[in-house]
Amino acid sequence: MTLISKLQGRTPKHAIILGSALGSVVDAVSDALVIPYGELPGFPVPKISGHAGKLHVGKIGGVEVAVLAGRAHPYESGNAAVMRSVLDQLKAAGIETLILTNAAGSLKLSIPAGSLMLITDHINYSGMNPLIGQHGDENFVPMTDAYDPKLRKAFLTAAKKEKIAVKQGVYVWFSGPSFETPAEIKMAQVIGGSAVGMSTAPETIMARRLGLKVAALSVITNLGAGIKGASPSHEETKREGEKAASNMKRLLTRFFKDLK
Ligand code: HPA
Repeated sequence: MTLISKLQGRTPKHAIILGSALGSVVDAVSDALVIPYGELPGFPVPKISGHAGKLHVGKIGGVEVAVLAGRAHPYESGNAAVMRSVLDQLKAAGIETLILTNAAGSLKLSIPAGSLMLITDHINYSGMNPLIGQHGDENFVPMTDAYDPKLRKAFLTAAKKEKIAVKQGVYVWFSGPSFETPAEIKMAQVIGGSAVGMSTAPETIMARRLGLKVAALSVITNLGAGIKGASPSHEETKREGEKAASNMKRLLTRFFKDLK
């Protein structure tokens, strides 16, 4: 596997994937080795704005981490497993914990724009699954506690220490790239969702298949379509994501400091 050969002897056990407009979180990485995805075979170069496409390997809060600034989304190609090679290579390089971040639309007035939401569970409403077509019993991945309870607890503790009001909720994966209709948002509320987004769930499924521990955090950039007249846009996602990035940076730094 090619990622290991590029790490220059560094051995991070934790990886973070940064979602839309959260790229500035890499400012929290010290002593970074930066590798553009283009130099990493199997790393899909993101084609949408707000995703840099660079791997930063360095320290956050004194702990060695691999930070992926930008992801490719299933909606860019129709391939739900677009991040498979990346996750396989992270696993082969010794990664044990995967922290996923994303931008999401809220389904609840109690989770307003600007909030951070710790994902407790997800609903796959995309009609896709990244493991379709894979063979072998290991693909019957249990998804109970997919979002690791111990990691969740650690994030809540870190949030308390940093006085960041982290919400918790269920993430509903819609394929995108079009935003949801108001009727779809109403349905997502009824089926038990707290937020909607276009990523993360397929990565969690593949990561759990590999035995990685997963935690995931959403930056709420807007209310879902139709709630109080909301009409989400990519511009709004990027703008609000950038605003919330400093809280995400602080939360991750505290999480890793405490881990040490
Ligand atoms: N829907 C889906 N994905 C999103 C949204 C949304 O409202 N906001 C940010 N990402």
